[in-house]
Amino acid sequence: MAGITDTAEWRRLEDLAAARPSMRALFDADPVRATAYSLEAAGLFLDYSRNRITDEIRNALIALAETAGLEDARRRLFAGERINVTEGRAVLHPALRDLSGEGFSIDGHDISSAIVRECAKMEAFVSRVHAGELRGRTGKPLDTVVNIGIGGSDLGPQLAVEALRPYWVAGRRTIFVSNVDGQHLADALETLNPDSTLFVISSKTFTTQETMTNAASARNWFLSRGGAAADIAKHFVAISTNQDAVRAFGISPENLFAFWDWVGGRYSLWSAIGLSIALQAGFATFERMLRGAHEMDAHFRSAPIERNMPIMLALVGIWNRNFEKISAHAVLPYDQHLARLPAYLQQLDMESNGKSRRIDGAPVDCKTGPVIFGEPGTNGQHAFYQLIHQGTDPVSSDFIAAALSHAPLGDHHEKLLANFLAQPEALMWGRTEAEVRVLLAKRGDKQTDIDSLAPHMAFPGERPTSSILMEKLTPEALGALLALYEHKIFCQGVIWGINSFDQWGVELGKSLAASILPKIARVGEVKPASAGHDSSTLALLNRINAIRRKG
Ligand code: F6P
Repeated sequence: MAGITDTAEWRRLEDLAAARPSMRALFDADPVRATAYSLEAAGLFLDYSRNRITDEIRNALIALAETAGLEDARRRLFAGERINVTEGRAVLHPALRDLSGEGFSIDGHDISSAIVRECAKMEAFVSRVHAGELRGRTGKPLDTVVNIGIGGSDLGPQLAVEALRPYWVAGRRTIFVSNVDGQHLADALETLNPDSTLFVISSKTFTTQETMTNAASARNWFLSRGGAAADIAKHFVAISTNQDAVRAFGISPENLFAFWDWVGGRYSLWSAIGLSIALQAGFATFERMLRGAHEMDAHFRSAPIERNMPIMLALVGIWNRNFEKISAHAVLPYDQHLARLPAYLQQLDMESNGKSRRIDGAPVDCKTGPVIFGEPGTNGQHAFYQLIHQGTDPVSSDFIAAALSHAPLGDHHEKLLANFLAQPEALMWGRTEAEVRVLLAKRGDKQTDIDSLAPHMAFPGERPTSSILMEKLTPEALGALLALYEHKIFCQGVIWGINSFDQWGVELGKSLAASILPKIARVGEVKPASAGHDSSTLALLNRINAIRRKG
């Protein structure tokens, strides 16, 4: 099968890239460029004008998407076809946010009624906890939730709980425990009262080492603090697709919230995995988030390519990755409540598109997913922006902000927004050495100082950025933003010809860790020198065991 780079559209883009004008020239030539290169959908505004894209390049990118069969791939996704071919699964997270409860099926079997049923179960549970109808073993209200999960069973709920802070139900708190490092759970347990804590064990497979280890230790802690086995039902619930494993852990079916294999782990916050979100911010808030995502789904499903926000964001990304040859992409939310967005998008993007095989098993013929990183603005400005401005490897960035703040404190938000606007401008225009010289002369610097400083103070500019603006970080806006990125990543996967919905790359490390585990000594234990590993692993293992022997 021919790859995407064999197409005339790809070659045309390579030709256009070789002769692409600078961004400075594009802005100088077109005073309304920003209007022509921006879009609005589902309460979000996207300005992608600060990319080195001309009308011709945009048309060629759209032609590339058409050649890659993007519209048909989108149809197949929504039709519930088993597009995750290596796992034989459909990919229907959009069905989870279709509150009308209609229209989604797999192989002719309706799935919407099961979604509605599970949603109702979640809603009833949340309202009973909030009303104090469900209480702990001693009759105390369950005011604290500990979400035990990792990857998609942690990052999505954690991001949403933080992002929805202004909507929190008074008097409640949620703690997230993910790392198998016992310190993570131990730190959380220190702050807990077992009588008022609800543990939410979130795991699609209910086999993940980290989650199962933390869940078992949490249960032991609960039992050691006066809880009886019969009290487990009051303090532990599970969210999983694996009913048998949940039952084997000791959680009864009434305390199980189900989801399905057609919900990928990193796309699961819309399912019952969102229980921690609903417990912290209310079920109505959770539903508002679903509604925002659904609005983006409806837009993605129906808007023509050139007006389609997820598709255009994907094409801008393809341009930067494959034709500008940029291998790192920064996610820069100018919003403290979106502090976990970069971590969330790291999983969503890198686990989805960090692939080097095409769907047919052949090696890919082009670069795929970039390295994603980021921090909230303005913190990042005082950390890694130096490299984005003046480093040797160009980085593309997404700037994200809300025009209105939930915390209108003094002039904080105006200052935040000023930075949100200033950075993309600085990244695009840069500053020439000649401009620096004029600046330094004006401030009265000596010629020798000007000569030595000017090269350091010059910025190359031409760093591509996209800006995403929302009115306010509401549940709807959050839902739309996350759905935007989900669809963007899907579109890029289609164009690169890869399966964005599996994650075989995480398996090898897992199985090696399982084989090493029995070779690590418990503190005070003497373990004979181990074999069967390379000399690096062996030397480290023996050193660890020697330290732990003395321990
Ligand atoms: O890291 C691999 C992975 O399978 C992710 O895709 C997933 O989100 C995470 O582990 C957790 O899996 P589970 O929800 O089954 O515990």
